[in-house]
Amino acid sequence: MLIQRDLLEKYNKAVPRYTSYPPANFFSDKEADTGVTELLQASNNDRPENISLYIHIPFCPQLCLYCGCNTTITVNKNWMADYLEALKNEIVMVAAQLSQKRKVTQVHWGGGTPNYLEASQIQDIMKLLNENFVFDKDPEIAIECNPAYLTYNYVDNLLEAGFNRFSIGVQDFKEDVLDAVNRGRPNIPIQELSDYIRKKGKAAVNLDFMYGLPYQDEASYRETIKQVLAIQPDRLVTFSYAHVPWFKKAQKSLEKHGLPSADEKLRLFENAFQIMTENGYVPIGLDHFAKADDELSIALKNNRLHRNFQGYATRETTGQVYAFGTSAISQLDSAYFQNTKEVNTYINRLKEGQWPAEKIYEVNFEEKVLREVINDIMCNRRLNWKEVADRMDTSVDTVKSFSAVKEEELEGFFADGLIEYSEKGITVTDKGRFFIRNIAAAFDPLVKETDKKFSKSI
Ligand SMILES: C[S@@+](CC[C@H](N)C(=O)[O-])C[C@H]1O[C@@H](n2cnc3c(N)ncnc32)[C@H](O)[C@@H]1O
Ligand code: SF4
Repeated sequence: MLIQRDLLEKYNKAVPRYTSYPPANFFSDKEADTGVTELLQASNNDRPENISLYIHIPFCPQLCLYCGCNTTITVNKNWMADYLEALKNEIVMVAAQLSQKRKVTQVHWGGGTPNYLEASQIQDIMKLLNENFVFDKDPEIAIECNPAYLTYNYVDNLLEAGFNRFSIGVQDFKEDVLDAVNRGRPNIPIQELSDYIRKKGKAAVNLDFMYGLPYQDEASYRETIKQVLAIQPDRLVTFSYAHVPWFKKAQKSLEKHGLPSADEKLRLFENAFQIMTENGYVPIGLDHFAKADDELSIALKNNRLHRNFQGYATRETTGQVYAFGTSAISQLDSAYFQNTKEVNTYINRLKEGQWPAEKIYEVNFEEKVLREVINDIMCNRRLNWKEVADRMDTSVDTVKSFSAVKEEELEGFFADGLIEYSEKGITVTDKGRFFIRNIAAAFDPLVKETDKKFSKSI
């Protein structure tokens, strides 16, 4: 047993996932004093080095019943074309505000199903990005793909457009699982597809799996993960299925098949964790795994791991994130803003040359410092007070005064074997990694003061 069950009972509380700090459900609370144009312009002076771009495609032709993503089910090609026109307008409008001295180091296409677009539509947008931004010499260009719609020819087109990382949503190899969740089967077997992407394109392959779906059990999931090992992806994510039928109504229909219990689900996770780590993969965060020579594993070793809404990245690759499309969240150093989730509102706003942002949150100095604290814990499994203070050009005492952590909370984590004290702060132990969200939350004054709802920590 990897995770001690008594600790689980004690720590399985509702705490943020910390994909951003402050967490996204705080965004609507604060009236912004500044507009989008000013915030974009100001971002040229905050950590200007890198630019990360995120493109959101909110369309899928068929609904996977477990889906928790921001997407609309449609096959209406005209509507999608209108959306892409709006997206192009947004790209040009944002680029006009940014300094041409800054370079794009990362592009991420997510969804929905970006690979449901025509390959030529994706190529068009990549061309527009290249015309409007200056790209670094070796940027990471990634795309999330549903393998049900991938052909060799389509992959060739994506490679030609510059994509060098493919995140393939496999979820499970078992056909009874895929059928129960209404997900189409891969058009090309995942092993062949991965080999092709790596050999033909010298591109990286990430595979997404989920645990907690109908018809998954310990034996079948062990088989699934062993099959993953045979493929040797560069990275693997095992997402814990978030069942929230009050929010995502279609999920309700999965209940008729029976869902694994909380305890079974935990065992699926433990099995995956054990098999991956015993076979040379390095765990990144809770549920990501990377090959030992992957840049994420190296960054973790050097305490240089970072994360944004698109996932883990190195501090070298990622920059402030400028996000395009419905529901997309821009993560600037001094502000976050999220676009409208409504496709038609998005199209209409951009037709009129208006910003599609509907929530803006300006990040003050105290929150920026806390963000560094939380990120250090969540990504690098440690906290070095002095490094955070130096990075924020302030004193260790100031950093400590912003943090809400109490001596007795740290003592409690220490007594449970979750942290160790180091000369410069704390380090999270192997046992503590599973409770990392609880540890981070102890340092977070916003969460301690709020009555907002978060998902359980495990
Ligand atoms: C935003 S989706 C985009 C990729 C693409 N649409 C696909 O399904 O292959 C990224 C990943 O989120 C995960 N996911 C979707 N719904 C989820 C849920 N309810 N709980 C946990 N993970 C989920 C899936 O593993 C999926 O591959
Ligand atoms: S393809 Fe991806 S985004 Fe679309 S419904 Fe399925 S899981 Fe959701």
